[in-house]
Amino acid sequence: MPAHLRPLRLGVNIDHVATIRNARGGDHPDPVRAAEIVAAAGADGITAHLREDRRHIRDDDISRIQAATNLPLNLEMAATAEMVEIALRHRPHAACIVPEKREERTTEGGLDAAGLFDQLYPVVTRLADAGIRVSLFIEASERQVEAAMKLGAPVVEFHTGEYAHAERENRARELKRITDMAALAAKNGIEPHAGHGLTYANVQAIAVIPQLAELNIGHYLIGEAIFTGLEHAVRHMRELMDTARPSAGAGLGA
Ligand code: PXP
Repeated sequence: MPAHLRPLRLGVNIDHVATIRNARGGDHPDPVRAAEIVAAAGADGITAHLREDRRHIRDDDISRIQAATNLPLNLEMAATAEMVEIALRHRPHAACIVPEKREERTTEGGLDAAGLFDQLYPVVTRLADAGIRVSLFIEASERQVEAAMKLGAPVVEFHTGEYAHAERENRARELKRITDMAALAAKNGIEPHAGHGLTYANVQAIAVIPQLAELNIGHYLIGEAIFTGLEHAVRHMRELMDTARPSAGAGLGA
């Protein structure tokens, strides 16, 4: 299905290909090769997080990824002066502002868009003025969606970690929170995305939320790729998302 007809896009986060490469300090496995396979497998975008400590994607990977595929690049980045300069130099299609702590294993929670308003406002404005689609990686809460509105962010990505890791009895509550906030964001002209901790087993309950326009999925897909290959893993995730959603053309936000 052509990407522009898809009700729900899949962005594949290729960071962990670079994590494996970096474990030995050489060039293999190359995340650019992963980006090419992901594109051929029918993903709609490439997502990569340039961390302060460069633990996975490195600076030179960004332009190499941009040159290797026609897919839009969603650059995940902290709201720091260094990252803003890098984003302005590379002008990715989108920049997703994430919270970042050096010692964390992964992005453990959402950005406090409300509490960090003064720090975020110039970052969002500079990136948006450069034509980069700014997204804020936030918890699904009214306070954070309202802050995103005030900041003028066109996109929010809801952190699905709490949902993905919730015990059975709390899962419905987490799902409702994301469902309600996706509706609130869309009602206020913000395109909602979601990601973190999504797997074959938990993706469909998220994919069914009608306002969501994009899911960004990384760790699970790269892990599955070890067993079944990256192309198969991406294709299977796409199929699960497409099955959960109504047919092409009926969706929102494509
Ligand atoms: N979206 C954002 C903003 C992220 O930072 C990450 C990685 O933490 C993901 C999506 C993908 O999460 P995962 O690797 O758990 O699929």
